[in-house]
Amino acid sequence: MKRGFAELTPAEALQAAISIERRNTEIYQNLAQTFASYDRSLGELFGSMAEEEVNHRLALEDYLRQQFPGEQPSQRLDPGIREVVEAPDLEEPEVFIFDNVTVDQAIDMAERAETEACDFYQAMARQVTDAGLKRLCQHMAEVEAEHRGTFVRWKQSRASAQDLQAPKGGSL
Ligand SMILES: [Fe+2]
Ligand SMILES: [Fe+2]
Repeated sequence: MKRGFAELTPAEALQAAISIERRNTEIYQNLAQTFASYDRSLGELFGSMAEEEVNHRLALEDYLRQQFPGEQPSQRLDPGIREVVEAPDLEEPEVFIFDNVTVDQAIDMAERAETEACDFYQAMARQVTDAGLKRLCQHMAEVEAEHRGTFVRWKQSRASAQDLQAPKGGSL
């Protein structure tokens, strides 16, 4: 029988969180590389996001090792855990096509990655009973929500810049 999110052990939930951070890092590294040459500020934004996701993963890995002796961060998420957390769509970054990605598609991809991470940490914060882990999840949820906000604002300012540039409609 398929397990629900609530049945994940705290260590398994941490492994899932680590895999989300690893995936998001790869997405940002690929986007940073893709945009470095033709949209420097966007490339730099993706690069700094990649660094933040690396730091999240390292913090989670430290927490896992300290609180769950014997547990090692896994490089690939156990299929049993993956099945449970399929709601945040844990696609591998390889499935994304980075060549020819437009600015809008890249921002959407980033926003989706952040939404999934935020939703995951919120769900995890509701489930875990350990106070320290709950605090960590709440903190991570807040940081991912801020990341998402960065992309939402980027999109809005891009849309208004395009509005300003757009030729005015014919007057009556
Ligand atoms: Fe993160
Ligand atoms: Fe993030």
